Amino acid sequence: MNGLNDIMDLSIGEIDELLNTADDIMVHPEKYASLCKGKKLATLFFEPSTRTRLSFEAAMYELGGNVLGFSEAQSSSASKGESVSDTAKTVSCYADIIAMRHPKEGAPKVADMRASVPVINAGDGGHNHPTQTLADLCTIRREKGRLNGLTIGLCGDLMFGRTVHSLIGAMSRYENISFVLISPDELRIPEYVKAAYLAKSGIPYTEVRSLEDNIQNLDILYMTRVQRERFFNEADYIRLKDTYILTPEKLSKAKSDLCVMHPLPRVNEISVSVDDDPRACYFKQVLNGKFMRMALIMKLLGVKA
Ligand code: NCD
Repeated sequence: MNGLNDIMDLSIGEIDELLNTADDIMVHPEKYASLCKGKKLATLFFEPSTRTRLSFEAAMYELGGNVLGFSEAQSSSASKGESVSDTAKTVSCYADIIAMRHPKEGAPKVADMRASVPVINAGDGGHNHPTQTLADLCTIRREKGRLNGLTIGLCGDLMFGRTVHSLIGAMSRYENISFVLISPDELRIPEYVKAAYLAKSGIPYTEVRSLEDNIQNLDILYMTRVQRERFFNEADYIRLKDTYILTPEKLSKAKSDLCVMHPLPRVNEISVSVDDDPRACYFKQVLNGKFMRMALIMKLLGVKA
């Protein structure tokens, strides 16, 4: 029932409203503290998560609501063979809104079609992750002061990194955007993402192998983890996992106002010695994600401040 499956389900205007609400929550949290009193959010996580699940839960608590759910498939009836549809219909009897993460692409969409409450896609396989994109958009707008006129480098596992796919879709709707897609050959962006967003809107992009040779042109550098759990064989993962490691030395060639982002968790892609650089924005992304999820929950529940 009309949750959020894909970032493209939201118009630019709706995204603007969510960004403005998140900005206001940051300044006046007390206005929002009991807006969802008596409402329940269910977090149904069939895959591991730290930030996404806990930020959804923190978001609901900060709106005065309550939370129930599970954090692994093994502790749900999925382990007995229950379908996603039946789980969604069941949880609709207990909760007012659902956030679902699932290893199968499209599972949260199926759940949304069957549930009688809104279902939010909290990451579906190697496909999409719209609420991470909301966190990313909030971070870009706060750090750069705009969502247009940006050269965005996406680096790492562009094939399986679902946050990358959603972010490309979202950013392709703003003016004067160009992308530098930095990956090993084996982990290049899927053709369907290129066709749906880049080719369709005539967005300029290059596909390159080297981070060092391209970092100086970027306004945003979005690093990603090589998605081990989506690989067919461990040997390929081991060969590719450390292809890119952002170090202070590499960063010294970048613009002084570069914004370094990462959806996290980080494995090796960003050296911890980068964390104190003022250009490191990945922990700000985490915080922004909570406020954007508060704004989204309010919108989907039809609650206004
Ligand atoms: C990402 C995800 O789950 O896709 N994490 C997150 O939600 N912030 C990125 C990742 O797992 O690499």
